[in-house]
Amino acid sequence: MERRSPNRHTRRSGGGVPPGSVAELGEALAGRGYIADSGLATALYLALRLERPLFLEGEAGVGKTELAKTTAAILGVPLIRLQCYEGIDIAQAAYEWNYARQMLAIRMAESRGASLAEADLFAPDFLLRRPLLTAVETSHPGSRPVLLLDEVDRSDEEFEAYLLEVLSDFQITIPEVGPIRAEAPPVVILTSNRTREVHDALKRRCLYHWIPYPDYERELEIVRERVPQAAARLAAEATRFAQELREMDLFKRPGVSETLDWTTALAALGRTALDEKVVDRTLGALLKYRDDLDTVRGERAGAILVRVTATPA
Ligand SMILES: Nc1ncnc2c1ncn2[C@@H]1O[C@H](COP(=O)(O)OP(=O)(O)OP(=O)(O)O)[C@@H](O)[C@H]1O
Ligand SMILES: [Mg+2]
Repeated sequence: MERRSPNRHTRRSGGGVPPGSVAELGEALAGRGYIADSGLATALYLALRLERPLFLEGEAGVGKTELAKTTAAILGVPLIRLQCYEGIDIAQAAYEWNYARQMLAIRMAESRGASLAEADLFAPDFLLRRPLLTAVETSHPGSRPVLLLDEVDRSDEEFEAYLLEVLSDFQITIPEVGPIRAEAPPVVILTSNRTREVHDALKRRCLYHWIPYPDYERELEIVRERVPQAAARLAAEATRFAQELREMDLFKRPGVSETLDWTTALAALGRTALDEKVVDRTLGALLKYRDDLDTVRGERAGAILVRVTATPA
């Protein structure tokens, strides 16, 4: 496997300045432990250069969320994360009036024998800032935070329509205050697991990239990076095993995160290679549905094990 320069873990762009080329961006990501293929590195590079949101889709556990975290780390900017869910609304995503503080202000004014005008109460001081407003307010040309809109497919269409507005102008309109516009667009990364199709209008505002499962070489590189305590042979066998499972007709195929969990578990058990017993006992780190466990356990696992251990690492 390729060896990396000793300073790879210290290299960073900093100050919100994106790396100057796709290759440099790939290096910077690798420096933070994220192994991107050239397609993904190109998509992210273009999103940064063109200041366009990046829409990432892919199976569970292929590194969508992690890419946003790593991007913030290499740029040296804050990560502002909005976890989407069914029923999410503006109050949770953008802003809310701080009623408790408003009440307190009214009481304090009353105790002084004064009264407060509506404009005093609906002033920016009384806003509770949620991720979208925070991103819009804090994004400047010199420092564009990463705004992660995670799992947008879980939100409903009404919220998606609101996002559309925010992502078109990077502006949030608060009726009592007026429009608040970002000085520079934040770096926006949206992710989806495709539990439903996200509307074309939203996708049109973004660059789109599908993250596939990594091939064997790349997944092994990820495993070596993330589970350095695992023996080389164990890492290779576990990765090959996970790759073989993805070829099967399973209810839920293992993602990269499952391969990492499994390898970590095997290393914690002091294993340096796979064998039938340990595979049987630890398969739950890799497969999370009883039907899938029933399908794989026994004969199928044995056959995979023979192929996996026969191949030199
Ligand atoms: N290319 C990669 N390089 C390094 N680590 C990776 C890579 N892809 C995935 N991982 C690791 O796999 C785990 C899962 O990644 P992540 O949570 O980003 O997946 P996801 O695509 O967001 O999954 P989900 O759809 O379930 O939210 C993380 O621990 C991450 O570090
Ligand atoms: Mg995720």
